[in-house]
Amino acid sequence: MNLLHSFLLPPLHMATSFQFLLLLLLFIAPSSLLAQSSFRPKALVVPVTKEASTLQYVTQIHQRTPLVPVNLVLDLGGQFLWVDCDQNYTSSTYRPARCNSAQCSLADASGCGECFSPPRPGCNNNTCGVLPDNTVTRTATSGEVAQDVVSVQSTNGFNPGRNVTVSRFIFSCAPTFLLNGLAKGVSGMAGLGRTKIAFPSQFASAFSFNRKFAICLASSSKGVVFFGDGPYVFLPNVDASQSLTYTPLILNPVSTASASTQGQASSEYFIGVKSIKIDQKVVPNINTTLLSINKEGFGGTKISTVNPYTVLEASIFKGVTEAFVSASAARNITRVGGVAPFEVCFSAKNVGSTRLGAAVPTIELVLQNSVSWFIFGANSMVQVKDDVLCLGVVNGGDNPRTSIVIGGYQLENNLLQFDLASSRLGFSSLLFGRMTTCANFNFTSAPSTALRHHDQGSDFE
Ligand SMILES: *[C@@H]1O[C@H](CO)[C@@H](O)[C@H](O)[C@H]1NC(C)=O
Ligand SMILES: *[C@@H]1O[C@H](CO)[C@@H](O)[C@H](O)[C@H]1NC(C)=O
Ligand SMILES: *[C@@H]1O[C@H](CO)[C@@H](O)[C@H](O)[C@H]1NC(C)=O
Ligand SMILES: *[C@@H]1O[C@H](CO)[C@@H](O)[C@H](O)[C@H]1NC(C)=O
Ligand SMILES: *[C@@H]1O[C@H](CO)[C@@H](O)[C@H](O)[C@H]1NC(C)=O
Ligand SMILES: *[C@@H]1O[C@H](CO)[C@@H](O)[C@H](O)[C@H]1NC(C)=O
Repeated sequence: MNLLHSFLLPPLHMATSFQFLLLLLLFIAPSSLLAQSSFRPKALVVPVTKEASTLQYVTQIHQRTPLVPVNLVLDLGGQFLWVDCDQNYTSSTYRPARCNSAQCSLADASGCGECFSPPRPGCNNNTCGVLPDNTVTRTATSGEVAQDVVSVQSTNGFNPGRNVTVSRFIFSCAPTFLLNGLAKGVSGMAGLGRTKIAFPSQFASAFSFNRKFAICLASSSKGVVFFGDGPYVFLPNVDASQSLTYTPLILNPVSTASASTQGQASSEYFIGVKSIKIDQKVVPNINTTLLSINKEGFGGTKISTVNPYTVLEASIFKGVTEAFVSASAARNITRVGGVAPFEVCFSAKNVGSTRLGAAVPTIELVLQNSVSWFIFGANSMVQVKDDVLCLGVVNGGDNPRTSIVIGGYQLENNLLQFDLASSRLGFSSLLFGRMTTCANFNFTSAPSTALRHHDQGSDFE
């Protein structure tokens, strides 16, 4: 850009018509320049690992100037990126969002903040604020809206490619205490929700690709999140984007987040479970009122990466576990005492093993338009001891906000693609059935693209 400026700068005596042309050029130049000289990725990829003590899924991006690695708890339904700015935030490119700026309106941030201490990241006058939310502990507070450089790896779907940056990625600062309850070494949360400033929309907007992203969580080792469209290829050359089953995503008109953000639509992803079957038999007497979302935003089924296991409302829990226990008995599987947090456990003795995990009854979530999400042994049973397997589902009690929360364990080794423009979810079913896993993305860069680094402006500037 500097070059362009000096080249086009007119001598003072030039005619006004030239100045008009110059003005025109300046408006047209940025986008054509990008198209010519900048590398436009088709998709991006970030790693996700499961942290063993908290069972949280942790991703890593690079942020700030100079770039530093930032570990973040992945929050599928989260509103945006928030990071602790009080501890160790140093960056020459940090910019607070000025009140009433375009950034503030994209962030749905109102008000105008003051901060009564020396200015620093997270504490500036005349900035707008939002409510960053620790969705693990359900704690929210206020934080300054800001912009800084974010860098991630591009991908062709097979390997990581060159690194790309968004120069003014919008996020929220938070005080250090909001990290309480998160995995060690983490400095915030990465929200992938439906808002305009969550990762999927900001990346799609910065790089002009579809508002689609996919998550593929691994049980140990490294899983992935892709931003942009497929292919999503796992060794040995299985493109998980090729055989997805689709179901509509449903908008919950009322936020389920901490009290402070109520009144807005939810940034989370809901799907329409119509009934549940165990070994092909419908679980009787499930109260269908609980399966839909009411005016106050209660009920329904959401997908969550911050709940380690699926949570079922008490009466649904009772129906599902009773049906599962009797279907297991029919397979001569012996029930044993519960092991917290699980109530329903079995002796591993009579349980065979299959490619899809323990040979236990199959759970089937029957969705809108009669498509089904099948949950096989690898996603239903948790090995708690050598000889004990538990159904990895917990009791959510009476009157929970959301009746069914499909948790992380049930998502592992399934690829889920969220298409925001078409408002639909594509799901692969357990990838073991296709002889691969979510840990099989090839994170080794192809040599020709590994070493280059390109900058990319953001549409949010
Ligand atoms: C601060 O950042 C440096 C460099 O990234 C890192 O080595 C150090 O552990 C960080 N300290 C804290 C308290 O996070
Ligand atoms: C904000 O403005 C107030 C006075 O209006 C001043 O006392 C304070 O130091 C300023 N804070 C920052 C972070 O600039
Ligand atoms: C690109 O990003 C990856 C991880 O995000 C990092 O390990 C690598 O050093 C970066 N490469 C360059 C050339 O910046
Ligand atoms: C079904 O659930 C709704 C919402 O909790 C409740 O009002 C209703 O009484 C329940 N119906 C039955 C038959 O339990
Ligand atoms: C269960 O055990 C009984 C008695 O040992 C046996 O007759 C029956 O075939 C077994 N059923 C299955 C499904 O293995
Ligand atoms: C992973 O990708 C790299 C770079 O293309 C390639 O050299 C390597 O053989 C791949 N690994 C496997 C196991 O295919």
